[in-house]
Amino acid sequence: MADTPNDVANPDRRNFLVLSTMTMAGIGAAAGGVGLIRTMTPTRDVAGGSVIEVSLEGISEGSGIIATAGRKKYSIRRRTADEIAAAVADDDSPMRDPQPDSDRVKRPEWLVLRLQCPHLGCPPQGTTAGEKRGEFGGYFCPCHNSQFDTSGRIRKGPSPANLPVPKYFFASDDMIVIGKEA
Ligand code: FES
Repeated sequence: MADTPNDVANPDRRNFLVLSTMTMAGIGAAAGGVGLIRTMTPTRDVAGGSVIEVSLEGISEGSGIIATAGRKKYSIRRRTADEIAAAVADDDSPMRDPQPDSDRVKRPEWLVLRLQCPHLGCPPQGTTAGEKRGEFGGYFCPCHNSQFDTSGRIRKGPSPANLPVPKYFFASDDMIVIGKEA
């Protein structure tokens, strides 16, 4: 989904559109049977809003989805080989909040982040392929122009820290649980 100028200026609206799309996909799947529900419904609340299951099925390389648990938003992004290589290659670059890429992912292909800028809390863009990803190809916070790399590490702008990695684990190859460790 390409950004409209209005979406760029108002990231909350954009995320609402993403979530609305996800919800409608779930409704459509419900009409088609249980198998489709698993394929089309990306999230399921399993603990009253604080823990969610997120299906990874259908997320293409280079794109991702936004999932919510209560008021928290999460970015689940399937990285390309080039994005992984760029993150690892920069492990030793000077950074405000140094952290090797390997400490930020459980499986290199999947980057899971809390979608909340550590500066003042805006939701950065960059999860889906159509969103702005900034100068380092990762995430871009439109509020005050913080730029994050393909590991979600702060590389430029006012954010004092990297985008947070939440508690999560892989329940299977195509399902993660966010909000707790295994
Ligand atoms: S809230 Fe993200 S740069 Fe200020």
